[in-house]
Amino acid sequence: MLNFNKNEFIERRRQLLSKMQSNSICIVPSATLLTRSRDTEFSFRQDSYFHYLCGFPEPDAWLILSNSAEYRSGLCVLFCQGKDPSVEMWQGRRIGPRVAKRQFGFDIVFDIEDLDERLFELIDGHDQLYFALHEYPESEERILDCLAQLRSAPKQSQRAPASLVDSRVILDEMRLFKSTYEVNIMRRAAEISAQAHIKAMQFSQAGRFEYQLEAVLHHEFAMQGAKHPAYSTIVGCGDNACILHYTENSDELKAGDLVLIDAGCELQGYAADISRTFPVSGAFSAEQRELYQLVLDAQKAAFDCIEPNSSLSKANRVVIEVITTGLLELGLLQGSVAENIEHQHYKAFFMHGVSHWLGLDVHDVGNYKIDGRDRPLAPGMVLTIEPGIYIAHDAPVAKRWRGIGIRIEDNLLVTAEGHEVLTLGVPKEIEQIEALMKQSNLES
Ligand code: GLY
Ligand code: MN
Ligand code: MN
Repeated sequence: MLNFNKNEFIERRRQLLSKMQSNSICIVPSATLLTRSRDTEFSFRQDSYFHYLCGFPEPDAWLILSNSAEYRSGLCVLFCQGKDPSVEMWQGRRIGPRVAKRQFGFDIVFDIEDLDERLFELIDGHDQLYFALHEYPESEERILDCLAQLRSAPKQSQRAPASLVDSRVILDEMRLFKSTYEVNIMRRAAEISAQAHIKAMQFSQAGRFEYQLEAVLHHEFAMQGAKHPAYSTIVGCGDNACILHYTENSDELKAGDLVLIDAGCELQGYAADISRTFPVSGAFSAEQRELYQLVLDAQKAAFDCIEPNSSLSKANRVVIEVITTGLLELGLLQGSVAENIEHQHYKAFFMHGVSHWLGLDVHDVGNYKIDGRDRPLAPGMVLTIEPGIYIAHDAPVAKRWRGIGIRIEDNLLVTAEGHEVLTLGVPKEIEQIEALMKQSNLES
């Protein structure tokens, strides 16, 4: 188990304070519990920004930071739920202000019940207020009420910040570059997810159900210390694999079909995001093999683009070129490579982007362009490379190609030398997959 490192979070808060304009305050609310039905709630998931800055795991908390000259090294205040044995007996343990202060390194911790009373004096006198606008409507309303009150009391020499600044401009940029601490967690999340994919491949058999493969994945996540998937797991057999966000996972696996799994665990808030596609009963047909090898070749060509100063657009262009060329060779597109790319004919079979940032959110924050130009890759960025080909049951091509959906997705860290693939633990070469499944068929 990777340990919580308080200093990592203190350092992130210090960095944020140093990047804010002087005499500013920043407010970051936690997530709240969401009702699932009547009086039951969805399993709690902390807000990514809040988690990034303090690692505090409870709902109904606020983080408030100030770099006013009054506080030499910045002020870091947490509001959290107070201890209450009778509530805790029903709803679960609370850390409480006293322990929170020590364990998480805050300067002051107040009971959340005192928020309205203290918010006024905390905001008063700052020039800027940093907040993620429209992200937390209820908290925003409380803050705007407080600003209105401050503006209405100038005679008491109270002063509302003159400007509201979007805190995400600073935070997204910080989150895009992963520290060693973050990379270690993401490496582990990737390893666990890779092993879960192997288990799911080994479990695959005609007559079993998509949701049973999902259960195998989630079981392995949990057995290795990751309580939750990072996003809704996709297990799509045959034509279901052509629905990009297929999460029903309700169908029976059929011999002769491919099954596409897109699944990754969440570990200490960080996501892994792996896709693999394999034959239900262990052997690729000729058509499946051709298309699979094409997606794999496109992915490998994209990997070659992942290094400092390269760009995701370059990787995207390379994938489009390899896939278009391959589809022409297989007779699934007609004409020249150039005209197919110009008119985006490949989009009939490959309709999504090839990459996204990965981190606390599976589609993580961070700008993809800077001043309208491709952002150069740099060490510390973590991203996916995930080409695919999807030929739906009603596609206007020869019948033998239909009902095949393939995606191969890995997670890469950009390093000074090039990149490190975090998800090497799960096979993707055709022979490796067939060998793995043959072995598990023999054993079962
Ligand atoms: N699993 C979502 C994605 O691959 O982007
Ligand atoms: Mn992805
Ligand atoms: Mn994915």
